[in-house]
Amino acid sequence: DNGLMVYDPGFQNTAVVTSTITYIDGDKGILRYRGYPIEELAERSSFLEVAYLLINGNLPNKVQLDSWSNRIMTHTFLHENLVGMMKTFRYDAHPMGMLISTVAALGTFYPEANPALVGQDIFKSESVRNKQILRIVGKLPTIAACAWRHRIGRPYNTPVNHLGYTENFLYMLDKLSEQDYKPNPVLCRALEILFILHADHELNCSTAAMRHIASSGTDPYTSVAGAAGALYGPSHGGANEAVLDMLQQIGAKDNVPQFIADVKAKKKKLMGFGHRIYKNYDPRAKIIRRVAYEVFDSLGKEPLIEVATELEKQALNDEYFIQRKLYPNVDFYSGLIYKAMGFPTDMFPVLFTIPRAVGWLAHWIEHCEDPETKIYRPRQVYKGEWFRNYVPIEGRP
Ligand code: SDX
Repeated sequence: DNGLMVYDPGFQNTAVVTSTITYIDGDKGILRYRGYPIEELAERSSFLEVAYLLINGNLPNKVQLDSWSNRIMTHTFLHENLVGMMKTFRYDAHPMGMLISTVAALGTFYPEANPALVGQDIFKSESVRNKQILRIVGKLPTIAACAWRHRIGRPYNTPVNHLGYTENFLYMLDKLSEQDYKPNPVLCRALEILFILHADHELNCSTAAMRHIASSGTDPYTSVAGAAGALYGPSHGGANEAVLDMLQQIGAKDNVPQFIADVKAKKKKLMGFGHRIYKNYDPRAKIIRRVAYEVFDSLGKEPLIEVATELEKQALNDEYFIQRKLYPNVDFYSGLIYKAMGFPTDMFPVLFTIPRAVGWLAHWIEHCEDPETKIYRPRQVYKGEWFRNYVPIEGRP
């Protein structure tokens, strides 16, 4: 606080908060939620259990988990006015744009949770915070499913609350009737693992956006919509969509060497590779690659997986990538799984948003409880014109 200002573009070396939620060691490829290694959670936990862990700080006992799951599953329905608003979007509206707008609109249904109307102190109450969290976690899959049904021109499905969280989500996407719907255990487990792996990641771009927006006292619905806006970008949550496009452009294994040459000539980027923090293999990518093969065994081979594994093999043995510590990240294989599950690429950022909203909300709680929290207001280095007098329009060239 000696008034010195450090110029650090993109916050590459700036810590703006202290947090107890997620720990990452980028050099060792370590990721832990509340101290639990991601590998153990992906292997043994469920998404709602991990959501409880991130939001409440500890793993739940059976009573706590049942109550948490039941409360979330009673918040899956959308108000008919909100469904009506979703139906006003263009027939081919990008599902992520629909989700972002609808989550922001969702907040207008709960004026009692709007600090602009009832004052900022409301979120000092844990019960008020928890009510909004249950609503957002419960309703996001329904909003996502409605955006997908809109995309394919089909009537929206209503939630079936006795199903599990991911089972209900897959049901709402589907065209089957409730009676005919038989959850595919391989798909449900794959989606659970993908949701667990995507739930939080320390202060990534969208989580930093969530804390930035919340720091001015905005309600959690608007803050989540803003964070989803940051996630939408191809350098962040839109990356697995970009990976699929890249793999489709490469087309076949034989074209990989030429693509690698184009990347090294800086003509193209190897999407799904590289990371601001991981300068080693992203631990999530290793798990997702295993899940990918399990899904392909169950649903049939995904031809692009051969292009992806050839691309990974050549890049990992090439000095250009080794020198820059470029390894596969969470997005490199996830898109292939979603494609094999039948999702189109424009649903990928939506599938990232559902779990990541839990991480955003865990950080929102930390922000609400932080006595030192201040409104985010970074500084800049000014490089513009220093001083000029006004010139009437007649006197301008
Ligand atoms: C996610 O932050 C998070 O935690 C994000 C995330 C999460 O869970 O929230 O993990 C999810 O967003 C994963 C990242 C998804 N994005 C992509 O896969 C897009 C492709 N990756 C790049 O855009 C890039 O790697 C970033 C943005 C992810 C990280 O970039 P950095 O840390 O700012 O690195 P950089 O741009 O400074 O690159 C260093 C060098 C450069 O080469 P030189 O100028 O030194 O010659 O590496 C090169 C870059 O050109 N480089 C790449 C590359 N990524 C970096 N070259 C080719 N392909 C790439 N993907």
